[in-house]
Amino acid sequence: MKVAVMGYGTVGSGVVEVIESHSNIIPKRIGGDTLEVAHILDLRDFPNDPHKDIFTKDFNDILNDPEVKIVAETMGGVNPAFDFTMKLLKAGKSVVTSNKELVAQKGLELLQAAEESGANYLIEASVGGGIPIIRPLTQCLAANNIEGIAGILNGTTNFILTMMIEKGMSFDEALKIAQEKGYAEKDPTADVEGHDACRKVCILASLAFGKHVYPSQVSAEGITNISLEDVSYINSVNGVIKLLGQIKYISDDKIAAFVSPAVVYNGSQLASVKDVFNAVLVRGDAVGDVCFYGAGAGKLPTASAVVADIIDCAKHTERKKIFGWGAGDEDYVVDYKSTIKMPFYVRANAGESEISAKFDDVKFLSRTGQPSNEVAFITDIMTENELTQRLEGVDVINTIKVTNY
Ligand code: HSE
Repeated sequence: MKVAVMGYGTVGSGVVEVIESHSNIIPKRIGGDTLEVAHILDLRDFPNDPHKDIFTKDFNDILNDPEVKIVAETMGGVNPAFDFTMKLLKAGKSVVTSNKELVAQKGLELLQAAEESGANYLIEASVGGGIPIIRPLTQCLAANNIEGIAGILNGTTNFILTMMIEKGMSFDEALKIAQEKGYAEKDPTADVEGHDACRKVCILASLAFGKHVYPSQVSAEGITNISLEDVSYINSVNGVIKLLGQIKYISDDKIAAFVSPAVVYNGSQLASVKDVFNAVLVRGDAVGDVCFYGAGAGKLPTASAVVADIIDCAKHTERKKIFGWGAGDEDYVVDYKSTIKMPFYVRANAGESEISAKFDDVKFLSRTGQPSNEVAFITDIMTENELTQRLEGVDVINTIKVTNY
């Protein structure tokens, strides 16, 4: 069976490698047929690559090849990936993707196009890299009302935070290593400012609750304000700082969804997720908490999920997949700052008496080298708006949410 790959970057080249290096097992998994990569679309030249005969810069070579029925889209970005994917799906070709930006922005339209033409649009690699999460969430947990989801959804930031926590490394040093290892997006802003995790939150929320959630509806805060001082205070209460995507069910018409740094106590499964690894914790009303863990970024782990989707398409050429979601609406995602209550970590230039006068119940923290005019504490539960009100007039250095996952 002929397939094509669009985008020969880290993931796309991994897809070709996994197809070729696993040619012994893939036919058994499909039920007889082999996979052959017939075209690789990329605008760049790869003169020393052994696949040079199958490179093309013309998308129509793939669209108009009647033998190609399955295409892996590993280009990233919304354009031209959206246009290409839409044309392929309308032509009845199945598309599998690792492109979370595209799914988060245009998933609804693409899934509808796939349904209309009878093709598959599969997205397992778009969240959590190699971690199986799309099928478990939509199939294995289908009997549950999902109460909430919390995920470490970005490998680059988890790697950076791990280096800060365990090696006392600076943010910049750790980011440089993450880029050298190929974890970071081309523009690391998407990783460190939480945009990449935000896209994955949108996909998980759309799948779990059935309405499209757009990145513009989800508040995203990154890790650039986290300092080694914060790491040290949190360590004193047996916690770590993680970049978490959180989704909470409120009613059938309302959810909360946000991405931010969060204090996670060491008893949580999420606290032990280190380096480039990701984890998604799903809270269902029948099953309780289930946690999916694995490599969330990188060439071969992400290719593992893409190729599994190709195998699924090859096996089920006639069957339409059963996951999907409906249209979203403007008021669907609530302002979490006025609705969701939680404790907060606060660091400020202030004295304990100033803080005690403003809060009924706080736990003060300490660290080695703490200046006499610096205070750090964990509050009782409250909304973020209430926290802001209470901190009026205080010279705040940083605040971080404390999670209950
Ligand atoms: N830059 C992303 C990450 C790649 O670090 O998680 C996988 O989506």
